Parts: sequence; C-alpha cells; structure tokens
Amino acid sequence: MPALPPVKKRKRDNALEKFVINGGTPLRGEVTVSGAKNAALAIIPAAILSQDVCTIENVPVSISDVKSMIKILRQIGAEVRIRNKTTIEIDSRNVNSSVISDDMTKSLRASYYLLGALLGRFHRARVAMPGGCYLGERPIDQHIKGFEALGAKVTLENNKMVECEADELIGAPVSLDVVSVGATVNIMLAAAKAEGLTVIESAAREPHIVDLANFLNSMGADIRGAGTDVIKIHGVESLHGCTYSIIPDQIEAGTFMVAAAATCGDVLIKNVIPKHLESITSKLRDCGAVVDDESYDEAVRVSMSQRPKKLNVKTMPHPGFPTDMQPQITVLLSVAQGTSIVSESIWSKRFKYVEQLSKMGADVQVEGQVAIVKGVDILKGAKVIANDLRAGAAMIIAGLIAEGRTDITNIHYIDRGYEDVIEKFGNLGGDIRKVFSVEEPDNTEESESDE
Ligand code: EPU
Repeated sequence: MPALPPVKKRKRDNALEKFVINGGTPLRGEVTVSGAKNAALAIIPAAILSQDVCTIENVPVSISDVKSMIKILRQIGAEVRIRNKTTIEIDSRNVNSSVISDDMTKSLRASYYLLGALLGRFHRARVAMPGGCYLGERPIDQHIKGFEALGAKVTLENNKMVECEADELIGAPVSLDVVSVGATVNIMLAAAKAEGLTVIESAAREPHIVDLANFLNSMGADIRGAGTDVIKIHGVESLHGCTYSIIPDQIEAGTFMVAAAATCGDVLIKNVIPKHLESITSKLRDCGAVVDDESYDEAVRVSMSQRPKKLNVKTMPHPGFPTDMQPQITVLLSVAQGTSIVSESIWSKRFKYVEQLSKMGADVQVEGQVAIVKGVDILKGAKVIANDLRAGAAMIIAGLIAEGRTDITNIHYIDRGYEDVIEKFGNLGGDIRKVFSVEEPDNTEESESDE
C-alpha cells in the first residue's frame, strides 16, 4: 500500500492569535505583579557598561520586549543566561561590537538605550533608529543634545542610523527642553563613566529612572538625585558586576487596579510599591473605588461596589498620572456616571483605541489631545484590535466589563509588556482565553491555545 501523504499540520506561524473574552464577571482574588518592563529595558543594556557579570532579578523574562533586548545583547557578544522565570545573568566581558542593525531595533523603542550604553563603554555606537508602538512623533533630539554635551559627535544618516563617536566623554551640564524618560536614561548611561560631573536638569522622575540609578550605583557608579528633576552623575573610571532586583511594574499594577474597579471586583494586587501608584490610587478613589494601600506589605487592595463617578484626568510626567494608564482609565470612565474629560499631554496619537472602544458602544469624542467621555450604561462585546500595548490592555478591561463576547486581535502588542495575561486575569475569574484562528477574525474556525 502506498504511504499516506503526511497530514498537513496547521502552522502556528500562520495562525492569527487573538484573545476571546466573555465579559461580566467581577474580578476577585489575588494577582502578583511582574518586574517593571521599562526599568528592565534600561537596566539590561546598562549591564554592558561593566566588563563583568551582573545578575538581575525580578525581570519580566517572558515579555517580548525583554526577549528582544536580550537578543540584541547576545548579538553584540554578551552572554545572557536565563536562570529562571525572573532571573537573568549578563556576562559582558566579551561584548565586541558597537553596531546594532535595524532588524534588531525595529520592534523595540528601548533599543536606543544601546546608544548611551555603547557610547559609555566604547566611546562609539552605531544604532539603527528604533521602532516600537506608534504613539505620535517620537524624536530623539534630547538624547542627541545630551550626547553632544558630553563631547560626542552625533550623525543621523537619512533618519535611519544614529552614529555617535567621542575621543573622550567629559561630564557637562545638560538641561532638557522636554522631560524625557528616554533621554534621561541615555544621558545617565553615557555619563556614568565620563570624566567629571554631569548634571541633568529637567530630568524625568519616573520610578524606573530611580531604579536605573540604583542599579548603576550597585555597579559602582556615583549618581545622586534620581527621582528629582536634577540628577548629578560623577563619572567613575570603571563599573563592576552586581546582583540587583528590579522594581515591580507600576503600569501593570495600575492596569489590574483599574480592571478591579471597572469590573466592580475586589482584588489584592501584590508585589507593588504603593508610593509609585499614588496618582492612580487617587483617581480611582475619586471615582468611587476603595483602595487600601496601608493594610498590606507591598500590596494594594482595590474594590468597587458602585458605578464609577465621572472624573477629569490629565496625563503628566511622574509623579502625575501616567500616559501609559490613559487608555485603561478611559475604558473605566466610558461606563461612569456623567461626562469625563481625559487630556493626553505626552503623546499626540494615543487615542487611536477610541475607535475600537466605540465599536463596543462607548460614547467618546476626541478633539485633538482631549477625549470627552460620556458614560454609557453598558459596553457590548465586539471584535476589536489592540492598536498598541496599552490600548491592548484597555481592550482587555473593556472586554471584561462588556456584555457578551469580545475578540481582540493584534495581541502581539500586549505580549510586549504584560506577562501571563491569560493566567493572571483567569485566576481572578476573568473569562479570557487565547485562541488560534487560521482565518480572519470573522471566521469561526479556531482552537484553544496550549500556551
Ligand atoms: N521627546 C522629544 N524629544 C526627545 C525625546 C522625547 O520631544 O528627544 C518628547 C516625546 O515626543 C514625548 C515626550 O517627550 O512627547 C516624552 O517622551 P519620553 O522620551 O519620556 O518617552 P520614551 O522614553 O520614548 C517612555 C516609555 C513609554 C512612556 C513614556 C512616557 C520606555 C521604554 N518607554 O518612552 O512607555 O509612554 O516614557 O512616560 O520606557 C509603554 O510602556 O507603553 C510606553 C510607551
């Protein structure tokens, strides 16, 4: 008998992954927040400033942005060992290249931290312009301003390649024209081993800036003032290896806080630093949630027993309300009593998700940088897409509070910044699953994820 032709296996590569959510269940229980994505994305490249071994704990190893950053480090010669789900070891002794091509940088905004780190280590860097979520124009003029102040010559080739070179890096004052997280990080990286004193004025104050300073100081750097708007970096000759634990993710914690309130649930969110959550806590209290940030050690409990009240929110650099929480809080306000105003002051294109939310019955009008959110009684499940990372998180919350079924496609964006989404929301009672669908989202052929 002739052999049967091999059964054609459905190729997962071709599959469209999506989340399917059946809404309406209040979230209840406990969830543990992972290490901070944006701290990890600064700290991992910072490790190459030493010619030594750094052990980094509380790393969100399974998010795709961290995987991409690890890949970049390996490509330039670092040995990165994944010790377990949250610990990595970076051996930077054999880093031998200062060039990063665009195939490595296109998926990841934070790839530009290699500019500061390589400049600090080799006094030269050639790094393709970064990709990442499209949130509006994302210039790097302030990064360049900082590198130039330290004595580097910076060339931008066709807006595609950034090349920095310096015979020597000399500490200098740098006054930022806009408060930029990325520029603050990059200048700290380039200045840690520069000669003399660098002073960054109008520095960003985000928790991950403080975390990076603490990490660099654990490696022997001399950085003071992180967390205020003036950071002083006394350059040191060399940095050594260390063991360091990354802070919990402020935005992941905030996302669960808003999800708990929006679903009228009761959730204990563990592994958080309550101080980092103050602006979110305060807004949630204003709209009627109970937030207990005193009774627990490194945890907050959020519960809600009423329809949210209207609220005005304006995003601001830390310690203001974070732009990375804007889509999530807007979803909550979309079912609030009354009309809320949400103003976005960091990114010019961060209301793209509103079109998706409208498919679910939300009544949100966007005028420039302001969204007018008229609370509706209920959202209805729909087929929506994740426009970017935080928009995707917002769609999950919308799906959880909506009546009926919500399908979210483009979920690779969510994988960039949230670990174990299905498990974490599922353990809280959320009816959410990942589905592989071989056809367009409209088609019903699908199979459960085994991930
Ligand atoms: N800006 C300039 N020139 C510069 C740099 C920034 O004009 O040289 C402007 C930007 O266009 C923006 C503002 O300054 O209007 C703030 O940008 P910032 O540099 O602070 O943002 P970033 O470093 O590119 C980080 C986070 C973002 C978060 C912002 C704001 C990382 C890897 N990314 O981006 O996180 O929204 O800070 O807090 O840390 C996310 O996690 O979803 C995310 C997008």
